Amino acid sequence: MAQRVERRKIVLGITGSIAAYKSAELARLFVSRGYPVKVAMTEAAREFISALTLEAITGNPVSTDFWSESAASGIGHIELADWADAVVVAPASADFIAKYRAGFAENQLLALLLATRAPVILAPAMNVNMYEHQRTQENLRELKERGVQIVDPEEGVLACGWNGRGRMASPWEVFYNVRRGLSEQDYAGKKVLITTGPTREAIDPVRFISNRSSGKMGVALAREAFRRGADVTLIHGQVPVKVPSAVRCLEVTSAEDMYQQVMRETYESELQPDIVIMAAAVADYRPKDVSHSKIKKLDESLSLALVRNKDILKELGARRADNPRPVLVGFAVETGEIDELIEEAREKLQRKNADMIVGNFAADAFDLDTNRVWLVDKHGKQSEVATTFKSRVANKILDRIRKL
Ligand SMILES: Cc1cc2nc3c(=O)[nH]c(=O)nc-3n(C[C@H](O)[C@H](O)[C@H](O)COP(=O)(O)O)c2cc1C
Repeated sequence: MAQRVERRKIVLGITGSIAAYKSAELARLFVSRGYPVKVAMTEAAREFISALTLEAITGNPVSTDFWSESAASGIGHIELADWADAVVVAPASADFIAKYRAGFAENQLLALLLATRAPVILAPAMNVNMYEHQRTQENLRELKERGVQIVDPEEGVLACGWNGRGRMASPWEVFYNVRRGLSEQDYAGKKVLITTGPTREAIDPVRFISNRSSGKMGVALAREAFRRGADVTLIHGQVPVKVPSAVRCLEVTSAEDMYQQVMRETYESELQPDIVIMAAAVADYRPKDVSHSKIKKLDESLSLALVRNKDILKELGARRADNPRPVLVGFAVETGEIDELIEEAREKLQRKNADMIVGNFAADAFDLDTNRVWLVDKHGKQSEVATTFKSRVANKILDRIRKL
């Protein structure tokens, strides 16, 4: 299936907050990824960051004056409103949020928000008491109900010296939410559980057996599923995972922890996933005995007895039996030839009662930003995704899951 074409033209609105310095980084993030950006600033915003900085970053003139001649002759709010595929206001001040909710159009940014048909994303930034004020909360609630996407502020030390929620979300976080705003929401309402990363099987208090999985494939799946509207939970081993904060992350250590967490999320939590994608590199074996103290260097050789871990995908497949839900997708990693990989994927599909197996080679996948995979599904369909970024591979996998 062809890669979905993302609409990309961004109007970045900036209002009067100390967090306006982050808007420059946000603009850079968009521009560096090939998104055309035009900036509209309120008068107060210009007290915090210069239009010149944003003109230099975006390569486009910055709209500041509602009443200027250039505005009247075409660079005005209506043209910007029509041009935009998405309008993001970051930072959004308390004052601006209140006026936007009420439908004011006293400056260019407010007017263009009334005029646009594009999705609107707001990243509030303010003192914690201003943020928690009943009026601000009511304003945000109503805007949310009207379909405006709110990127919640973070907790931490604020510029005003207070500690609490009110700090504007990071530019990366805002960027991902805008990407979601721009994308077809074909996973809206779908609950997706993804596992990723390696497990660690303890030998003693300081040593463990693990593998080279970086978790990047599962992270890419989580980001892309979020972008396409899914409600995502990511159960991951001890690797760094950078995902939008709306993705629920649960960290685990051993294969047994992973098993327990997956079972809890699948059968006991409110989540009840529609789709489970097992991309984690779960250890097949663990040391039979775990030493409670550090094993000393005494003998010339040391043998470790290993025992089998539980097979999570197999257990999910067995419990589901003939039920179509949840959709089960597994990964198979091999080091041999393509024929062997496909054969292993087919065999795994049957043995585990899964809907699709994603086969890949360790050398193509581990710790890389790219991957090359083969998708083998229960209908007997088989296709290759040639080497490309893991985000693209993730989208191909999600496309295929939609067709299962
Ligand atoms: C130093 C300073 C920092 C400010 N920081 C914020 C802020 O972070 N969030 C906010 O909502 N208002 C903040 N304000 C108040 C807004 O700038 C003020 O309400 C202004 O009218 C907002 O105008 P605008 O919404 O048109 O941009 C700050 C004011 C000053 C003087």
